[in-house]
Amino acid sequence: MAKSLLLVGFLCLLLAFAAADHSPLQDFCVAQAGSSVLVNGLACKDPKMVQANDFSFSGLHLPGNTSNAVGSRVTPVFAAQLPGLNTLGISLARLDYAPWGINPPHTHPRASEILVVQEGTLEVGFITSNPDNRLISKVLQKGDAFVFPQGLIHFQRNIGTGNAFAFAALGSQNPGVITIGNAVFGSNPDVSADILAKAFQVDKSVVNQIQSKF
Ligand SMILES: *[C@@H]1O[C@H](CO)[C@@H](O)[C@H](O)[C@H]1NC(C)=O
Repeated sequence: MAKSLLLVGFLCLLLAFAAADHSPLQDFCVAQAGSSVLVNGLACKDPKMVQANDFSFSGLHLPGNTSNAVGSRVTPVFAAQLPGLNTLGISLARLDYAPWGINPPHTHPRASEILVVQEGTLEVGFITSNPDNRLISKVLQKGDAFVFPQGLIHFQRNIGTGNAFAFAALGSQNPGVITIGNAVFGSNPDVSADILAKAFQVDKSVVNQIQSKF
């Protein structure tokens, strides 16, 4: 008896998941700035108070500042920057690269990404998951597009003579970014140097040196 009840409960749970909505249940849910309501996403602004500006973002014609150690800059247009994106499952970024600048290896835990080169020449690539860890890489020119599948480590490098820039569309309002070097060697607090020395098969002093960069 208890067993069959458990089974019924389990089936109801399955049905509840199968019937769940994965799309917005309203035209939009413009993020309410400053709300402390905790939901998966951001709380909605009263639809009657919504303005065209809630659906708009300006400044994507402006180059990002690439004067930094990696020579690149990401200008995100996620739900935090464009409140109208809340619950819609898409977002955008502008990527600027100085000559030989890189967007270092990173992953987006919640989104695939499609990038379109607007100016310059980019070497791009991603790495497949274990055990193959195959590098899929290509040189892109202006007008070329390339997709980075969700969760996979990927990067870009400007291999042209001048500045380069691209736009990227992402399949989440908040794709998340894990930059591999920063996360592994610059966590707070540090991962023990012993662990990283063994993981990367190098001397602890090498780990300490890399950790000091982040
Ligand atoms: C770009 O960033 C560098 C380093 O932070 C800073 O010194 C410089 O003033 C910035 N340039 C512009 C145009 O904002």
